[in-house]
Amino acid sequence: MGNSTDISWLFEQNKAWADKVKQSDPDFFANLADQQTPELLWIGCADSRVPANQITGLPPGEVFVHRNIANVVVHSDLNCLSVIQYAVEVLKVKHIVICGHYGCGGVAASLEEQSHGLIDNWLEHIRNVYRLHAQELDAISDKPELVSRLCELNVVEQTHNVCNTTIVKEAWARDQELAVHGIVYSIQNGILKDLLVRHGPST
Ligand code: CO
Repeated sequence: MGNSTDISWLFEQNKAWADKVKQSDPDFFANLADQQTPELLWIGCADSRVPANQITGLPPGEVFVHRNIANVVVHSDLNCLSVIQYAVEVLKVKHIVICGHYGCGGVAASLEEQSHGLIDNWLEHIRNVYRLHAQELDAISDKPELVSRLCELNVVEQTHNVCNTTIVKEAWARDQELAVHGIVYSIQNGILKDLLVRHGPST
């Protein structure tokens, strides 16, 4: 990848990609430049192994994305709320997907005793999820299994957080078509698992 300050490889990668896209569809970029009409807002983990478009096979323009450590939706996080507001009120997405992933480093770190510095404040949101489900989680002695289950429960709790935003509540109050889903991705086999958590105006 060249010397340490050189990112020419990045531009080479980009050029090769753009050429390939243009080859299969010469109008691709011209069409996309006019507008975006994604039906899906994806809230996922910042982990480099969980890129929304690639793991769903969706091209640019098909998914609006927000990612942070451990796919957490916090009611005081203006960044995340602004994304949700734009997606719901302007783009009028029909689905909001919270996507966690097994083996999430953020989730695993929340279970550790040791200090990680500033990020511990963020991970506290996941520790709150643990407290809500302590009865079930305390009974799991296998560490990887515990992390996996907390990854799932974290997704479930974040779907509730999405539903409880003023943005989603107001959308449902005006009968806007909008569903909230919880899914988990396996880094080991590339497959998305539907946690069958669904929220809509009446659920
Ligand atoms: Co993660």
